[in-house]
This record gives sequence, C-alpha cells and structure tokens, in this order.
Amino acid sequence: MAVIQRLAGSVAVVTGAARGIGRSIAERFAAEGAQVACLDINPKRIAEGVAEMRAAGYNVHPYTVDVSRRDDVHAAMQKIEADLGGPVSILVNNAVAASYQPIEEIDEASMTKMFSIGLNGIIWGIQAAVPQMKRHGSGSIINLSSAAAIHGSANMSAYCALKAGVAGLTRAAAVELAPHRIRVNAIAPGMIATPASIGFFDKATLEARTKALPLGRFGEPEEMAGVAAFLASADSSYVTGVLLSADGGSTIAGT
Ligand SMILES: NC(=O)c1ccc[n+]([C@@H]2O[C@H](COP(=O)([O-])OP(=O)(O)OC[C@H]3O[C@@H](n4cnc5c(N)ncnc54)[C@H](O)[C@@H]3O)[C@@H](O)[C@H]2O)c1
Repeated sequence: MAVIQRLAGSVAVVTGAARGIGRSIAERFAAEGAQVACLDINPKRIAEGVAEMRAAGYNVHPYTVDVSRRDDVHAAMQKIEADLGGPVSILVNNAVAASYQPIEEIDEASMTKMFSIGLNGIIWGIQAAVPQMKRHGSGSIINLSSAAAIHGSANMSAYCALKAGVAGLTRAAAVELAPHRIRVNAIAPGMIATPASIGFFDKATLEARTKALPLGRFGEPEEMAGVAAFLASADSSYVTGVLLSADGGSTIAGT
C-alpha cells in the first residue's frame, strides 16, 4: 500500500497486535514509516502475525507481554526503546479480552480479567510510555474504546462500562499530559469485521445488524487503522481528549 510517510522515524507500540484491529494498525503505522513494537499475550499468534507482516515488508517487532501485568509492561517498554534505538512516541492501547454476559450472570473472574486488561492495562501502558514521550518531546496515545461506550446494549453491561471507562480515562489523561505535548485520544469503533466480532454473531443477527447501519456494512480493520494513523500523526496536532466515532453512522442513527 503506497501511503504518505507521516510517521517516519517514530517508534510506535501497539498492544493486542497479533490480529484484528491491532494488527491492521501495526501494518498501517509501519507503512507510514514507523518502527512498530507489536505486543500480544499470545506468543504463537504474535510470532506468526509478525512473521507474516515482515514477509510483506513491514518493520514490525514481536513482544509477548500481558498488558495487565504492570511490571512486565514497564520492562517491555524499556526493552523496546533499547531494541529499536529511540524513545516510544506513539502508543496504541488496543488489547482486549471481552466477555458478554447478562448482568445477573456476570462472574468475578471475567470482570477482573476484562478490567485488568482493558482498563488497568491502559494505565500501565501510559505510565510506562510517558517518560519516553517526555524525553522525545511529544507523544500520541490512542485508546480503543467502542460505540458501546455510548450505546446501551443487552448482555454488554460490563463491556459498556469498560469502554465508557476508557473514554473517561482518555479525557483525564489528555488534560494531565497536555503540558508535555502528549495528546491522548480514543477511537469508538462500531461493528468492525474482525475474527472476534464476526464469530460472535449468528447469521441472522449479522444480517440484521448490517442492515441497520447507515453505511450498510461492517467496517474493516484497515479503516480503524486509517483513523489511528491520523491520530498518531501531526495531521491531528490540535486534537486531544476526543472520543472519535468510526462506526458507519450507528451512533448518530441510534442503531
Ligand atoms: N471488532 C469490533 O467490532 C470492535 C468494536 C468496537 C471496539 N473494538 C475494540 O477494538 C479493539 C480490538 O478489537 P478486535 O476485535 O481486533 O480484538 P481481537 O480479540 O481480535 O484482538 C485482541 C488481541 O488482544 C490480545 N490480548 C488479549 N489479552 C491480552 C493481554 N492481556 N495482553 C496483551 N494482549 C492481549 C489477543 O491475543 C488478541 O490478539 C478492542 O479494544 C475492542 O474492544 C472492537
């Protein structure tokens, strides 16, 4: 893909980069000239994913990290700077372990897992990256929230709370880090065609959901990567603290 090299010379970190949206973001950042550290908890998946991306010519590097483990995230961030020869200036907090349950059936183990990865993990990532961004002189942090931060959906209470939490964290961190020229934004994807989302719905639900979308189709991971690249680049230099909907119009239509 021939794209403008807006991220040339940058060191970027993408969590949950082995597949889905994270992988597309890693590819797009590399195509725009960044060196990309691809973090994922699944060693086989990240090794294979990075091997495929490298075979396609992308400058990507695998790191097996569980983002819910604070010390491991800090150690990985230091290793990335040493390995890639410069401070991290772009961080995408994308990793997720979503579970969808009726509110009366939500169990403690899945709540703890989901929040320790999807919310605590973002804080550990930001903590670990900010000292490097300060030394770099600027930074861009991009958190994956969801249209679920805005809509209410049955059987998704915990996930909706998680993603609304990501939006709140984004706004607070944006204010706190602005004096250091570090911007913090969130993306709210709608229905995106990834292994996780497509596998979740039966055929009839998938068709009904698709029909209800103003743009009439699911989004592609590459389309989220385009939004992330905008937020990572100087093209968004005056944008901070936003929750940017990328949902085919589902939020405005209330679908
Ligand atoms: N797919 C959608 O329709 C959609 C919609 C709205 C928001 N989102 C958000 O976008 C992001 C990516 O979604 P996706 O569908 O590509 O997800 P996915 O499930 O396909 O990929 C998530 C990746 O995160 C990794 N991961 C899980 N736990 C981890 C941990 N503890 N440490 C490091 N990595 C870990 C997984 O191994 C996997 O590779 C998520 O934050 C998700 O909530 C997705």
